[in-house]
Amino acid sequence: MSCRGFGILVLAGAAAVCSFGQTDGLRAAARRRGFLVGAAVNPSLLAQDAYASALAREFNLVVAENAMKFAPTEPARGEFNFDGADRMAEFARAHGMKVRGHNLVWHQSLPKWLTEGSWSREEAMQILHDHIRAVMAHFKGKLLCWDVVNEAIAYGQPFGPQKSFWLEKIGPEYVDMAFRWAREADPDVKLYYNETGGEGAGAKSDATYKLVKGMRDRGVPIDGVGLQMHVTVQRAPTVEALSANIKRLGKLGLEVQITEMDVRIPVPVADTDLIAQADVYRNVARACLANSNCKALITWGVSDAHSWIPAKHPGFGAALLFDAEYRPKPAYQAVVDVLGSR
Ligand code: G3I
Repeated sequence: MSCRGFGILVLAGAAAVCSFGQTDGLRAAARRRGFLVGAAVNPSLLAQDAYASALAREFNLVVAENAMKFAPTEPARGEFNFDGADRMAEFARAHGMKVRGHNLVWHQSLPKWLTEGSWSREEAMQILHDHIRAVMAHFKGKLLCWDVVNEAIAYGQPFGPQKSFWLEKIGPEYVDMAFRWAREADPDVKLYYNETGGEGAGAKSDATYKLVKGMRDRGVPIDGVGLQMHVTVQRAPTVEALSANIKRLGKLGLEVQITEMDVRIPVPVADTDLIAQADVYRNVARACLANSNCKALITWGVSDAHSWIPAKHPGFGAALLFDAEYRPKPAYQAVVDVLGSR
């Protein structure tokens, strides 16, 4: 196991971790490269020193794991709550970090007042338009980019439109509408389409490419594609496939960000899995940095202490760059090494 730059390998319980040594860390390596490394944030954890200090030291971008979604931001029609998101944005400002907006339109995290109401197509369009306008106005000038639409393509074959309140009420045009309304609301922020499971080669990434190409052809204002990257060691894209996908999106004039990376492994963790996990992070960082349109690598959480994985994938966890004690894992060093190489 390699801990290059850290010097010492320590054994903590069953898990091998790298202790801090000479390196000045991920954020510094990213800054030297002009690159963004980010983490999904739960604003209520910012009060914890270990969480806040790791976040500010190691990352230069934040994204709200949940706090900017529809349900928390518009808990009643026309009534908005930005408490958590504002705390995160203030933390980012205080520490010189960029902020991604996540997300304006999704089929999940919708409030009951919306999904249990009885709305005409026009009313649903009005609600969506009002939501986009109000939320974007609140954060205007503070964000780098917004995930305008999240996961509009079904999770399984044949990768048609994802069933959702918006699809049912408005039809598939809701995607184009949302981007046009977003551009009206803020002409400066970058507008992203964010998708899961279509990172490398295959039918899902082809469906994603087709969707965003259609948008470009129709003149819909879209600036980038988020490739989420919730993967396992066995089902991670190769450097070649990921790089080719990033490249073809670039040829459409689109930026890419790796928006939600985690690599779940069986728990309790085995050292061999930590090494294999590091290889996946290394490959993704390499593919991203090999393409000038790939602007950021963001992990879906700060450390293994707080991650959505154990609740949704029982038997798996330990998916991030830091362990539950905020110690850097081999995956951390792998990303630092890629950022430092030319
Ligand atoms: O906040 C409520 C709390 O009041 C309530 O008591 C509790 C009871 O279950 O639920 C809490 O809400 C949970 C929320 O996370 C905040 O912790 C929801 O149940 C839970 O479904 C929600 O899960 C989030 C999920 O998106 C759905 O919004 C995960 O934390 C979050 O990691 C996950 O993130 C998504 C991305 O947005 C899009 N891509 C996939 C990714 C993973 O699913």
